[in-house]
Parts: sequence; C-alpha cells; structure tokens
Amino acid sequence: MYSDKVMDHFQNPRNVGEIENASGIGTVGNAKCGDIMRIYFDIDENQVIRDVKFKTFGCGAAVATSSMATELVKGKTIYEALEVTNKAVMEALDGLPPVKVHCSLLAEEAIHAALWDYAEKNDIKIDGLQKPKSDIHEGEEEEEY
Ligand code: FES
Repeated sequence: MYSDKVMDHFQNPRNVGEIENASGIGTVGNAKCGDIMRIYFDIDENQVIRDVKFKTFGCGAAVATSSMATELVKGKTIYEALEVTNKAVMEALDGLPPVKVHCSLLAEEAIHAALWDYAEKNDIKIDGLQKPKSDIHEGEEEEEY
C-alpha cells in the first residue's frame, strides 16, 4: 500500500526535533484525525533556510510527508520553499494512497505557517504567501462522518 520511500521516511524520519530561537515556527492541525505538525526554520540573512526540524504527532503518512517536506525545503530560499506543495512532496515519495492524501497537507500548511511567522517577526511581506490555516479543514463546511 505504501511506497518504499514512504516506509523509509516513516521509519527513519529526517530532521526530527526542534530549533531553539527559530526564525519561524509553524503549527498546523487536522481536527478530523487530531494529528498535529510543528515545523521550525532557521533562516539566514539571505533568506535561505539553513536548518529545519519538525515534530509530528500523527499518522505514518503525516510523518513521512513531513520528513520529505523538510528535505525539500532545506537549503532553499523562502520563495523556493513556498513552491513546495503537498503534490511535490507526494511525488518525491512516489505517491500516497488516495485516503492518505489529506495527511500531506499538514506539511504544506506548516511550511506556510512557519514562513508567515518568520515574516511577522521580521516585519516583511512574502509575496504569494497567504495567511495560513491553523487547521487544514478550517473554513470547510461541517461534514457528517
Ligand atoms: Fe491524520 Fe494522517 S490520519 S494526518
């Protein structure tokens, strides 16, 4: 059901942990399953993400996508990081089962939330960055399930 890459990133997640005095921190939850992801960025004076760490209290797919997302943004500029979508993360992992696609949204939203936090702390505007959601289902209609 899961690709080898998903299993690898789930069993050996990269960049797990936290960064003290991080330049930006983003936390996003998924109220439907209760999973949460937090990402920490250390961003240098050239707006390059020098280091990144994450913690995910979530399912295997959330852990694997968070791990891959950190690998994809590390060493990138904040604008390049903004381009890292959940689709790009899933492609880098050779796909996810359809029922697990929503799990990959945690990483994308958490990246945006951390960039938003960085922009606020430094009083700058990041073009193309929308105010992130604190929950990936925020703004959706209430569904029965
Ligand atoms: Fe909650 Fe995967 S089931 S993020």
